[in-house]
Amino acid sequence: MRSIVLANQKGGVGKTTTAIHLAHGFAIAGQRVLLVDLDPQGNATVAVQGMQADGEVEPPHASMTAIAERLWLLPSAGSVTADSEAKLDTERLHAVVRGLEKEIDVMVVDSPPRMDDWGWAGVQLCDEVIVPVQAEFFSMHGLSQMMASLEEASQRFPGKGQLRGVLPTMVHAREEIASEVLVDLRQNLGATLLNSVIFRDSSLVEAASHGQSVFSHSPWSKGALCYTELVQEIMHG
Ligand SMILES: Nc1ncnc2c1ncn2[C@@H]1O[C@H](COP(=O)(O)OP(=O)(O)OP(=O)(O)O)[C@@H](O)[C@H]1O
Ligand SMILES: [Mg+2]
Repeated sequence: MRSIVLANQKGGVGKTTTAIHLAHGFAIAGQRVLLVDLDPQGNATVAVQGMQADGEVEPPHASMTAIAERLWLLPSAGSVTADSEAKLDTERLHAVVRGLEKEIDVMVVDSPPRMDDWGWAGVQLCDEVIVPVQAEFFSMHGLSQMMASLEEASQRFPGKGQLRGVLPTMVHAREEIASEVLVDLRQNLGATLLNSVIFRDSSLVEAASHGQSVFSHSPWSKGALCYTELVQEIMHG
């Protein structure tokens, strides 16, 4: 089972949006996917709660719900108890995930904008980390804190939390400054920067407000194409 966490201590950079679309994209590509909401705010849980798989699909575990074909959600404990101060039961989480090796191909984990118990649980649970970063002038500056956390994670949890790549998000397609920021990120990060770029696209916001993924809401939008490309890059190399 592959395991990928979306992590960045900075808020509002596209972690939840990327987690949801990676999960949907992998499932569309034929993989059996578990989306884990590890943010006590439960944004991912709320975003997908109206989604349903066609037909009766038995989830791999009683605490999960089917949200699309081959795609299950492990909701946030915070949203289940309507309590954003909810405590994380790490042992139970690990027990649930350990039993899934045969039933799930890819686990995608959304995490909160800070390295608290929940944030650390995400990197401890996953082999790979994708760090979404909003493409703006101070992008590199904000990244250093996250890189330091990943360095610490590699010591605390050997083999876990390896950086798979940094993903530029909310890139303004027509602004010159955006391409300067991308060049700057490439110079600083080299191969650590993923090739995929997520452009700013209102379709992503509209899809979310309709409780849908952008793949079903507007399949030919820029947002859908960007996330399709990301899924291909993460799946194939
Ligand atoms: N590429 C994009 N284009 C336009 N809007 C976007 C894009 N990506 C995300 N958004 C919007 O930006 C807001 C923040 O995105 P998101 O919730 O995914 O970030 P986050 O990193 O999970 O935030 P938090 O740290 O609060 O959990 C949301 O309203 C989302 O719909
Ligand atoms: Mg989020």
